[in-house]
Amino acid sequence: MGIAGFGNTKLRYDMFDLESSAEEARRLTKCAGIYHKGQSLAWDGRAILKELIQEHGGVQIEPDKRESLKRIFSIIMWGELAAWKISSQLADRLVPLEAKMAATSQAFDEARHFYVMHDYLVELGYEPDKLERAPQALLDLVLDTDNLAYKLLGMQLMIETIALTIFQTVRELRVEPVLAELMKYFERDEARHVGLGVQYLPNLMGEMNRRELGAMLTFQAKVLAFALWENKVLEPDYRVLGIDPRHVLDRCRQKQVVALSEAYAALGMEFDQQKNVAVSSLMAAVELLFPTEETRAPGPRLRAAFAALRGMPVSDEGDPFAVHRAHAIKTQGGIAPGERDA
Ligand SMILES: [Fe+2]
Ligand SMILES: [Fe+2]
Repeated sequence: MGIAGFGNTKLRYDMFDLESSAEEARRLTKCAGIYHKGQSLAWDGRAILKELIQEHGGVQIEPDKRESLKRIFSIIMWGELAAWKISSQLADRLVPLEAKMAATSQAFDEARHFYVMHDYLVELGYEPDKLERAPQALLDLVLDTDNLAYKLLGMQLMIETIALTIFQTVRELRVEPVLAELMKYFERDEARHVGLGVQYLPNLMGEMNRRELGAMLTFQAKVLAFALWENKVLEPDYRVLGIDPRHVLDRCRQKQVVALSEAYAALGMEFDQQKNVAVSSLMAAVELLFPTEETRAPGPRLRAAFAALRGMPVSDEGDPFAVHRAHAIKTQGGIAPGERDA
């Protein structure tokens, strides 16, 4: 602790000049861009929710679907609180100016997501209740770790992509019209948050040795295992809403592989999910727990599980995040058109 200006201080005077290469400098500039975009794309949560509710004459959900929607989105609401806390932890602890700015703007976005989701759920007749064990275990894992790389990997690259997948699927199926429109706003923000993980995780990974990188993959496998457990717990609710849980998993995996590959590529490393025993075992568990129509029978199901263990190619359908950036949204400065990628 600093006493009267002597001793240690938490002010990092070296925060301006921490990059060690042009590549790192480029990625940090992108982090600063996340902050500036967050500012220009900020939307008024109270006004947008009110407007959507008026436009659709209140929430419109079939009575037999209401409880399932509440259950899934109450998990999302507490997940937004966790994201708010985690991005605040990162805003405090990340040192380079640009990364700190990006985490700070994320905390600002997550606060908005949390209160908007709470207000939406109240419209649906929800009374705040505790989380179930599976989603709480997933969020606690990332909240409680002191390792900043684990936090970025767990929140920005894994949990954010799960949320994006659920948002996209609920929007496409128009499970409830107010929520479907609201999701466009959430998706624009969350896609930016994945960007912080993609741009800054490589800096932290660059300081790790092989053993530490291996330990991080074990952490990743734990996150995946809890996410899989959560998906299994929510399976009946997904089915009520007409959502295929296996489709959610496959779509999510696609986004995660693209985000992780980009982070690894920045270090000149190849992210090969199949070379990682922990991760490929989980992919095998996916085949066993969530068989597709073709693999529902025990024989094909086991064959699919073994194929996952040996390693299957991941299909390439372009950038799976482009869809989230393409939504036009109403910001406080007027309509912000969707981003069209070159
Ligand atoms: Fe969020
Ligand atoms: Fe987020």
